[in-house]
Formats: sequence, C-alpha cells, structure tokens
Amino acid sequence: MNLETDLGGIKLADPVVMASGTFGYGFGYEGLIGPGDVGAIITKATTREPWAGNPPPRIAETPCGMLNAIGLENPGVEVFLSEYLPRLRKSGAVVIVNIAGRTFEEYVELASMIGTAKGVRGIELNISCPNVDMGGMQLGTSPDMVYKIVDSVKQVTHLPVMPKLSPNVTDIVEIAKAAESAGADAISMINTVQGMAVDIETKRPILGNVFGGLSGPAIKPIALRMVYQVYQAVDVPILGGGGIMSAKDAIEFLLVGAKAVSVGTGTFINPRLAMEIKAGIEDYMARHGHTGLHEIIGAAIL
Ligand SMILES: Cc1cc2nc3c(=O)[nH]c(=O)nc-3n(C[C@H](O)[C@H](O)[C@H](O)COP(=O)(O)O)c2cc1C
Repeated sequence: MNLETDLGGIKLADPVVMASGTFGYGFGYEGLIGPGDVGAIITKATTREPWAGNPPPRIAETPCGMLNAIGLENPGVEVFLSEYLPRLRKSGAVVIVNIAGRTFEEYVELASMIGTAKGVRGIELNISCPNVDMGGMQLGTSPDMVYKIVDSVKQVTHLPVMPKLSPNVTDIVEIAKAAESAGADAISMINTVQGMAVDIETKRPILGNVFGGLSGPAIKPIALRMVYQVYQAVDVPILGGGGIMSAKDAIEFLLVGAKAVSVGTGTFINPRLAMEIKAGIEDYMARHGHTGLHEIIGAAIL
C-alpha cells in the first residue's frame, strides 16, 4: 500500500503531519513517537526576534476543544537555526518551518534566512498575526495582503511555500485563490478559530489576552467545509486539519480533498495519535481495496 503524498514539492512518506505549535520541535517525545514515525514536523512559529508571548493564563479548556493564546512565544530565528534545526536534521524528520512576522519585511527576511539552511523542506507561512502597518488587522484576512506576502516570500526562496489560512474570514475561497495566484505551492488550513472564555466568579475574561484561538473537535466541521470549498477552487495541494482526533477524522479530510492532514490538539491527549492515525488510514484503505491515497483524495466531492 502506498501512503506517499506530495505537498507542492514537499514529498511525504505518509500523509500525517504534526501541526505547528502542538509538537514543539519534536523533542521530548522519545520513546513515544519519533520524527521518522510521522510524515513531517511543522515547527512552532519562528519569528525574526525572540517573542515573549502573551500574559498568562494562555490556555482555557472548552467543551470539545481548547482556547490558546500563547502569542507565538519562541526564541527567534537565530536560536532556531543554530540550536534546534541541527537536532531536527539529525533526527531525520521532514521539517517544515512555520514562520511569522509583523511586517512583510520580517517574513521576507525570515524566508531568505531559512531558505538557505540545510535540512528544511518547506516553509509554512503563519499569516494569522496582526500586521502593524495595517493597524493590527490580521495579515491573512485580506486577499491583497495574502497575495503580497506570498509573492514577496516566493521571490527570496526556492523552497516550497505553504501559506496557512485563517478561518476568521468571510470568504476563505478568495483568500486561497489569492495565495495560489501569488505562487503558493500548497495551502495549509485551518488555523484556530477566534474565541474567548469568561470566569463568572471573577467576572473577567479567562485568557490574559482576552481572545484566543479555538482548536480541537469543535472546529472540525468548519475546517472540513473550508477544505471542501477550497479544493474545488484551486489546483494547489491542501494540507487539511482542525480537530483531527482519529483516523476517521483524518480520512474525512482526505475525502474532501486534503492531500495530507495535520494533527494538533489531539497530540496533547495522545502523543502517539499521529502514528495511530497512519495505521488507521492503512486499515481503511485495505478494507476498501485502495492501494494509493489518490484513490480517496477528493472522493466525497459532489
Ligand atoms: C497550543 C497551540 C499552539 C499553536 N501554535 C501555532 C503556531 O505557532 N503557528 C501556527 O501556524 N499555528 C499554531 N497553532 C495552530 C495549530 O497548528 C492548528 O492549526 C490548530 O490548532 C487546529 O488544529 P487542531 O484542532 O488539530 O489543533 C497552535 C495551536 C495550539 C493549540
């Protein structure tokens, strides 16, 4: 059985990928799950300078999901390149680096620094950050901004570039089309859905940042609907995810057009989930007499 797939030039031995920010840099899971056990690791967002992240509390549990407002805490690109990447390279993992910036210039500088580093197979653009030039509006909510950012990054790197779309928009299809026309090699979707939680005793929002991103099973129907729409509107491959907790969930994403799937919040509950999902996809394919993933990708599109 062939589980190989391809995200716009990023070749994966299997379609299950660790979502950015939910598996760190893959360290600390020894004995549970190894980098070679998953299709790829998408690293925690890396920024030009170290970011301290948001004030606590940064996590709140919700029915069927969680809210997080980590605020992209990370040590910055220089530490990533000098300390984390060499360790990742040694592990043999397929590494996709998630980058975030507050300005176009930061994205471009990051992409050119990462693009020349050994051992990186692709760049995922986190375009859900507030853009200072636009008064804090999220970069990923305007088709023009998405076009400009993808186009600018494509000009400075030969690596496959995969913008990660925010679901917090009116029309995800126009954003995906803007990304494709700017030369995106693949599209990753979805990032978290904006939400909040309230403590009725203190009469205050729970998260230090007030708003956070909702992830987990609660967002799966939203993510599936968006992948279903985008698959029919663009030709570039889609990395689909949002609320995947089982092989069944992952297969749903493949059936609506994802070429690979990302597992995030589910890993917090079961660190071996990605491996179990891979095995479950194999079982499903055997049961249905399929020998290659292409036979199921997009099969549920009407
Ligand atoms: C704690 C936490 C940290 C995250 N950090 C990032 C990040 O650094 N960059 C990014 O693009 N997405 C980040 N995400 C979003 C996830 O990669 C994923 O897109 C989202 O959680 C939906 O998938 P899930 O429901 O499987 O978790 C984060 C999510 C969580 C829960």
